[in-house]
Amino acid sequence: MFAVNLHFNLFDFMGEKDFEKIFQEKIDNEIKIEPRDWMPEKYRQNLIRQVSQHAHSEIVGMLPEGNWITRAPSLKRKAILLAKVQDEAGHGLYLYSATETLGTTRERTINDLHSGKAKYSSIFNYPTLTWADIGAIGWLVDGAAILNQVMLTRTSYGPYARAMVRICREESFHQRQGFEILLVLSKGTTEQKEMCQDAINRWWWPSLMMFGPHDSDSTHSDQSMKWKIKRKSNDELRQNFVDMIAEQVKVLGMSLPDPDLKWNNKTKHYDFGEINWEEFWNVVKGNGPCNRQRLDARKKAWEEGEWVREAAAAYSEKRKIKPKTHKEALETV
Ligand SMILES: [Fe+2]
Ligand SMILES: [Fe+2]
Repeated sequence: MFAVNLHFNLFDFMGEKDFEKIFQEKIDNEIKIEPRDWMPEKYRQNLIRQVSQHAHSEIVGMLPEGNWITRAPSLKRKAILLAKVQDEAGHGLYLYSATETLGTTRERTINDLHSGKAKYSSIFNYPTLTWADIGAIGWLVDGAAILNQVMLTRTSYGPYARAMVRICREESFHQRQGFEILLVLSKGTTEQKEMCQDAINRWWWPSLMMFGPHDSDSTHSDQSMKWKIKRKSNDELRQNFVDMIAEQVKVLGMSLPDPDLKWNNKTKHYDFGEINWEEFWNVVKGNGPCNRQRLDARKKAWEEGEWVREAAAAYSEKRKIKPKTHKEALETV
C-alpha cells in the first residue's frame, strides 16, 4: 500500500501569466501592492530605481540649502531653514526604508549613488549664490516636487504611497516659507528686488526640467502609467506647475524669464517656451555646475559617519544578547 498525498496548493498550478493577471487586476481595482505580494520583476526594479532616486534627491537636496544655514539673515530665518533641511533628511530616510521593502539593501542603494549608477534630481546640481536662492528653491523646487508627490500619494505601491502622505504635509510648509522669503525681498530695497528677480531667473528653467523629458521622449512613462506608479504624465504635471507659478509670480511683482509665456484662452492654460534639453541632458550626465561637489560631499559624509553606523549595529547586537528590562532579567533567572 502506498499513500497518495492529495494535498496540493492552488499556487502550484499557477504560472507567471496568472500571477500577472491577478497583479494587474489589483492595480485596476485600486488595491495597493504590498511588499509580500507577488509583483513582476520589472515593476520591482522600476520602483527600486524610482524610490531610491527619490530618496537620493531628498538627501542631496539638503546640500544647496544647508550651505545657507550659517548665513541665514536672522535667527528666525535660520530656525525655519534648519527645520526645513531636517524635514528633507526625514523624507530621505522614509524613502530609503521604502526602497528596502522591495528587497534591496541600504548599502547597495547608497553605493549606487556614490558610483554614479543611480541618479538624483538634477536641480540640486545648481549652486545657491544668494539668500534669495533659498526662497526660490522653496517656492519653485519644492513647489514642483509637491505636484509630483501629491500624485504619488495614490501610487500603486503601498509603502511608497504612505511615505508620500507624510512628506506632502511638510512640503506645503516648504513652499510657503520659500514664497515668503521672496515676498519680503520683493518689498525691500532695489538691491533686494534685483536679488529676488535674479534668483527666479536662474531657478525657473531648471525647475521646469524637474518634471523630466517630454512624454514622447520619456522611456519609463507608459509602463509606469499602466502600473499606476505614475498617474499624470511629465508634460501634464509641468503644465499644472506653469499655470500655478505664472499666477503666483504676479503677487511678487516679479516676472518669469520666458518671453513666450502667455495665457491661452483656447486651452485655458499658459503657453510657454521650449526647455533647453541640451542643458538638461548635460547635467543628468554629470556635467552640471555642482555635480562633482555634491557627490564628493555625500561620499565624505558616508565615510565620516561609519563609526556611527558601527556603534548603532554594536548596540543593537548587545540588546539582543542582554535582557532588555529589569523585569525580563528577573524572569530569565
Ligand atoms: Fe522633501
Ligand atoms: Fe521639501
